[in-house]
Amino acid sequence: MYTHAVFWPPCNRGDNTLNRDISANQLGGEKIARQYEYMARVRDFVTASGETKLCYVETYGCQQNEADSEHFRGMALEMGYGIADSPEKASLIIFNTCAVREHAEQRVFGNIGALLKYKRRDPSIIIALAGCMAGEPHVVQRIKKSFPYVSIVSDSRCLWRFPETLFNVLVNGKREFATEGADVIAEGLPVHKNRDIKGWLPIMYGCDNFCSYCIVPHVRGRERSRSPETVKEQFISMVNAGFKDITLLGQNVNSYGKNAREHFETDFPKLLRELDKVEGDHVIRFMTSHPKDAGLELFDAMRDCKHVAPHLHLPFQSGSERILKAMNRGYTPEKYLGLIRAVRERIPDIVLTGDVIVGFPGETEEDFEATLALVEKVRYDALFTFIYSPRKGTRAAEMPQNTPPEEINRRFDRLVALQNSISAEKHAAYEGRTVRVLVDGKAENKPEGWLSSRTPGGRLVVFPGEEGLIGSFTEVKITGHTTWSLVGEKA
Ligand code: SAH
Ligand code: SF4
Ligand code: F3S
Repeated sequence: MYTHAVFWPPCNRGDNTLNRDISANQLGGEKIARQYEYMARVRDFVTASGETKLCYVETYGCQQNEADSEHFRGMALEMGYGIADSPEKASLIIFNTCAVREHAEQRVFGNIGALLKYKRRDPSIIIALAGCMAGEPHVVQRIKKSFPYVSIVSDSRCLWRFPETLFNVLVNGKREFATEGADVIAEGLPVHKNRDIKGWLPIMYGCDNFCSYCIVPHVRGRERSRSPETVKEQFISMVNAGFKDITLLGQNVNSYGKNAREHFETDFPKLLRELDKVEGDHVIRFMTSHPKDAGLELFDAMRDCKHVAPHLHLPFQSGSERILKAMNRGYTPEKYLGLIRAVRERIPDIVLTGDVIVGFPGETEEDFEATLALVEKVRYDALFTFIYSPRKGTRAAEMPQNTPPEEINRRFDRLVALQNSISAEKHAAYEGRTVRVLVDGKAENKPEGWLSSRTPGGRLVVFPGEEGLIGSFTEVKITGHTTWSLVGEKA
């Protein structure tokens, strides 16, 4: 059970006070007030027996899903549930799922299968499949047919009306499929944040880019930006609650505000500058940046803002112009390298990370070598490397795949080996330097007494130290490194 909670907004009951600048497609007011009525009705059900019922939320995928799970937990608390940290004792089990690659989906199906024993033991428990997989029609069909004990399917666009969906299941005992979500922003839902050091702050939802391999726009709907006032209000409340490291979230933060011109006139660099004015000892991060929309204003703002971390996560996906075109990414390798030059001119010690896909349909040896060449030119601090996974409903899934899996695996290994050697060299260059880090917990896979921390650029530093340092900034002298982390001692 969580012991600390931060609620944001302070349980707005739909009185509109937090929604003054919210556009017509952004929900607040009456619609959310109705959901609070449903929450109260569910609470009557849940608390009737006098014993505390528990809700368990399992999160897969990206930080956007982590942020959505904070809403599930917030709604569950509002509906009278306690929060469980495992499914065994829960009366309501929510799987908040990811659809980005096949492997992630298979895991979810396997784990849902494992819930059957709980349902057999207690038929009154409710199992819900939520998140991105719930937005895929073939998944919904499979759940309908083969997983009759899953009572709720609710995709991420329907998150705001989960209380109503749950109420219907409790009252009618029937299964509910909430997958017809309009593209809205639901402001004013309860949120339950574990009071912590690092926190997420969604500034926008959905995606309009339709990269040809990607399922996200299909399951999360069109891009929509929260108002800058709402974002700032939440940001301030997180700073006041003690968060030291706040990540602004969106699939493409550089197009923040683009679709909302009739409601507010701002963009991402301006938003960064605005949030930077909030005083305190904290770091601002953001992800993800799309190279087609990132530009000099962003890099100028990063240089000028004292709280903004010197870290840029700029996925490139491929170093081949031909493949980038087939991916519908909207930039060339030259344009991408121009961005890297521009950001390094402004912030010489910037930490650079990226995402890359190996084995996109039609990728030749030459295309792959262009990817290796780009990695050598940029010299990322770290890379997130993925093997292409066909997603039903995307354009790339229709493209012929002529490269055998063994060859794709070989390419993947070559890329990882190259990046590991670059990361090791970059890490070696830290040795002897003293860096300021934010201590965020105990170190994993290390003896008792070792702490985990992050540099401003987001690199992991482990060092022996007092637990009392957790949650504060401190100076650490780097004395060694591995491929993934730096090792140090308190300076
Ligand atoms: N919106 C972000 C990231 C979304 S998904 C962006 O545009 O950068 C995170 C990463 O997963 C992507 O950057 C991509 O590298 C990878 N990815 C997405 N779809 C994939 C697929 N079908 N197969 C393999 N990797 C994929
Ligand atoms: Fe997917 Fe592209 Fe949107 Fe990122 S920008 S979520 S990769 S479609
Ligand atoms: Fe996965 Fe959905 Fe995020 S598909 S990566 S959880 S947006």
